[in-house]
Amino acid sequence: MQFTSYTKPLKGTIAVPGDKSISHRSVMFGALADGVTEVTHFLKSADCLSTIACFREMGIKIEEKDGVLYIHGKGLHGLTAPENVLDTGNSGTTTRLISGILAGQSFTSHLNGDASIQKRPMKRIIKPLTMMGADIKSDLDNGCAPLTIQGHPLKAIHYDSPVASAQVKSCILLAGLYADGPVSVTEPALSRNHSELMLASFGAKVESKGNTATIWPDPELHGQKVHVPGDISSAAYFICAALMVPGSEVLLKNVGINPTRDGILRVVKAMGADIEYTNITEQAGEKTADLLVRYTGALHGTVIEGDVIPTLIDEIPVIGVLAATAEGETVIRNAEELKVKESDRLAIMVESLSAMGVDVTGTDDGMIIRGGKPLKGAVIDSHLDHRIAMSFAVASLVAEGTTTINDAECVNISYPEFYSDLESLI
Ligand code: S3P
Repeated sequence: MQFTSYTKPLKGTIAVPGDKSISHRSVMFGALADGVTEVTHFLKSADCLSTIACFREMGIKIEEKDGVLYIHGKGLHGLTAPENVLDTGNSGTTTRLISGILAGQSFTSHLNGDASIQKRPMKRIIKPLTMMGADIKSDLDNGCAPLTIQGHPLKAIHYDSPVASAQVKSCILLAGLYADGPVSVTEPALSRNHSELMLASFGAKVESKGNTATIWPDPELHGQKVHVPGDISSAAYFICAALMVPGSEVLLKNVGINPTRDGILRVVKAMGADIEYTNITEQAGEKTADLLVRYTGALHGTVIEGDVIPTLIDEIPVIGVLAATAEGETVIRNAEELKVKESDRLAIMVESLSAMGVDVTGTDDGMIIRGGKPLKGAVIDSHLDHRIAMSFAVASLVAEGTTTINDAECVNISYPEFYSDLESLI
């Protein structure tokens, strides 16, 4: 797909699609609850459709009527043995969270996904699940999918996770629903807490203290009405675009601003942006707001490191693009997790920003971007990574000449309407 530089301001209002993490969880927890869960503003992207397909394969009726998703839950012990391999597509969240659920079932299941999923590390869930007594194996013995999980009674554990990962934490908490006592996870920095909040709203006993989450087994989960907030990870592209294109003013409606996800707002503020929050509301512990983003002149560089990293992990590619247009140096540290996302996002960011003429140096756990020089159009290989494609579509707005993004349609993974929404601001 080709993009040309754009010099007019971006103006308008966007209701970004539903949060991907919360959409996945609404299907999973709805399936394990008794009764019907009704989900509004569900994200119908390829990743979340993979989760729906997996639960349908295990006997859960899921239907959509007038834009509302209905999940006919069958309780904690209501899933049935899948006849086919569970296909998790490109979705790390589906693969890792579902593994926690499958570990405690009374049947065997096989899981597999696309080429990217088959390279992503699963040892990080195999290790704690095995400590709980689960029988989970990497079929090729390489620590990756395909996985075979033979359901088993599970033991209570406390796990000190070496990574701040909501997928690892949620996998263990979900296995904890089937354990013989309370299960807790401590992480080095707090990752997104959507599982804790939503499981509690469904009736589970969950406690969060600092970086430790604890769950008690065998709760009665009840179907809920879930309204999915707009995804701040999708809003991020328009936040950065509006801050980069002179004269822009964009209103983003109903964006989730859970403090475990709002790192991008804190970082752009530290870079000199001024974002106005209005219409703040809260449902089941998830806060949302309308965000008014205005171009206020070139921003300045900053340091992004430590505890803020898990709160903006998926936004680092587009923050990198913004940093390239800011004055001075931006240093990103402690972001080694980016190497094991849908692609090696650190390497690809350095390669793609360099192709646009940006002065950037990759480091072991991040990058240093010396911003302020004009960007030039380039050919960008998305490596089938949705966040790379969207980040460089944003970069193309201010890059001189033409930018070509290969496999640009991979935005379907999290944001199928991304290009038309961007177009609507132009
Ligand atoms: C997610 C957690 C994060 C994030 C991913 C979604 C989730 O992954 O990058 O896009 O829904 O729990 P990690 O847990 O691997 O950091």
